[in-house]
Amino acid sequence: MADIKQIAVIGAGQMGNGIAEVSLSAGYSVYLMDQSKDMLDRGVAKIEHNWNKLISKGRITEQEKSTKLANLITTTTLEAVCDVDLVIEAVVESKQIKEELFARLDALAPSATILASNTSSLPITALAAVTNRADRVIGMHFMNPVPVMKLVEVIRGLGTSDETYQTVLEVSKKLGKKSVEVNDFPGFISNRILMPMINEAIYAVYEGVANAEAIDDVMKLGMNHPMGPLELADFIGLDTCLSIMETLYEGFADSKYRPCPLLKKYVSAGWLGRKSNRGFYDYRSGNRWS
Ligand code: NAI
Repeated sequence: MADIKQIAVIGAGQMGNGIAEVSLSAGYSVYLMDQSKDMLDRGVAKIEHNWNKLISKGRITEQEKSTKLANLITTTTLEAVCDVDLVIEAVVESKQIKEELFARLDALAPSATILASNTSSLPITALAAVTNRADRVIGMHFMNPVPVMKLVEVIRGLGTSDETYQTVLEVSKKLGKKSVEVNDFPGFISNRILMPMINEAIYAVYEGVANAEAIDDVMKLGMNHPMGPLELADFIGLDTCLSIMETLYEGFADSKYRPCPLLKKYVSAGWLGRKSNRGFYDYRSGNRWS
C-alpha cells in the first residue's frame, strides 16, 4: 500500500476547500490549486473561519490552527502541485473539463501518484481512459459540507487496482470518514437515489403542485429529512444538480432521469442556488422567499 504524505486538491470551491481542511486536520501537507485566485482566497478564508469556530469552542488551540495552516500551500498553477502522492480533483462537474485536467495531471505527476476525482456522477473509467495509469485512478466522493459529513463513496473504475483502493480506504479512514465501496455506474449510489428526488421536487414546483417552501416542509416535517429537497438543491448548487441529472439521463438512457426544464431555466439564468445568492430561494437579503 502506498504511503500518502502529500495531497494536492484541485478546485477550491465548496468541496475543494472542505477536502483541504480535513486533509490538513489529519496531518497531511496540502497543496490547494484553483484557476481563480479569488476562489483560493475564499477557500482559505472558509477554512480559517471553521477553525476559528473550533477555537472559540475550545476544541483546538491557536497554535494547532497555525501548525495546520503552515502545511497549506495555495497556487493557481497546476504544474506546482503535481509532485505529490495523491491528487484529489474537485473542479466543476463537467466531463470535458475533468478529462482535460486528468490528461494534464497524468502528464505532469510522477507515475506512482494516485489521481482521485470527487465527481458526483461522472464515470471514473472514462477519466482513467485519458491517462496512462488506469490502475491509479479512483473516485473519492465526499459529501457536503466535507468537515461535517462522515461518508466517502469510494468508486472503483474498471481498471482501478486493489492497491489503489486499499490506499484510498486508509486515507479516508485517516480523514475520519466512513467509506463505502461502489462500482462505477452513473451517479454511484448517493446521487442515483438523491438526485431523482430533487428533480421530482423541481417538477412539483414547475407543475404548480405547491411552492418550494411547502414542498420542503412536507419532506422535513412529514418525512423527517433534515433539509427539504429544494433547500438541498440550492446548497449543492443547481449547476451541479443539472450536470448530475444529465449524466444519469445520458448514462441510463431512461426518461425517468430527464432533467426538469425549470432546473435548466434557473441554471441558464445564473440562478445557481446559495453560491449565486439565488435559486429556489433568494439569499440576497439574508431572507428567503420561495
Ligand atoms: P464549486 O462551483 O463550488 O467549485 C468549483 C471550483 O473549480 C471553482 O473554484 C472553480 O474556479 C474551479 N475550477 C474550475 N475549472 C478548473 C480547472 N480547470 N482547474 C482548476 N480549478 C478549476 O463546485 P463544488 O460544489 O465544490 O463541486 C466540485 C466538484 O465536487 C464537482 O465535481 C461536484 O459534482 C462535486 N461534488 C459536489 C457536491 C456539492 O454538494 N456541491 C457534493 C459532492 C461532490
